[in-house]
Amino acid sequence: MLTERMTKALNEQINAEMFSAYLYLSMSACFSEMNYSGFAQWMKVQAMEEMSHAMKIYDYVIERGGRVELLAIEEPAKSWETPLAAFEAAYQHEQYITGRINDLMNIAIEEKDHATNIFLQWFVTEQVEEEASADEIVQKLKLVGDHGNAIFMVDRELGSRTFTLPTPA
Ligand code: FEO
Repeated sequence: MLTERMTKALNEQINAEMFSAYLYLSMSACFSEMNYSGFAQWMKVQAMEEMSHAMKIYDYVIERGGRVELLAIEEPAKSWETPLAAFEAAYQHEQYITGRINDLMNIAIEEKDHATNIFLQWFVTEQVEEEASADEIVQKLKLVGDHGNAIFMVDRELGSRTFTLPTPA
C-alpha cells in the first residue's frame, strides 16, 4: 500500500509526464509549421514516450492499490525561434524532470517504500538517456550553426526516429 504522501507525489509526476508530452507535441507542431518534418517527427515520438512514462506510473499507482488523480495540464509554450532554441528548452526540461525523479526517489526512501524505490530506478536510468539524447542534438545544432543545408541534414536524420514502447519497469 502506498502512503498518502507517496501517492500524491506519484500523481503529480503523472501530471509532469503528461505535461512533457504536451510540451513536445507543441514543439512538434511548431516544427511542422517551420517545415522541419524530421524534427517534428522526433518530437512527436518524444511526446508518445512521455505518455508511456505517465502510463507506467498510472499503472503502478493502481497496481499498488492507490487512487490515481488526474490534475490539470498546464498550457505549453507554442513557438520557438529556431530548432536550437527548442532543443535547448527540451534539454532544460529534461534536467527539471530528472530533479523531480530524484525528489520522488527521496520520498520513497523517507517513506521506506522499497517497492516504489525499485520502480523509480527505471526512471532514474531513463533520465540519463533522456538528457543525453536532447543534449546530443543541441550540440549537433550548435555545430551546424545557421547553415541551412546542414540543418536540413540533421532534420532528415532525426526524421527516422520511430516509437517503440519502453521496456516494462
Ligand atoms: Fe519522461 Fe522525458 O522524461
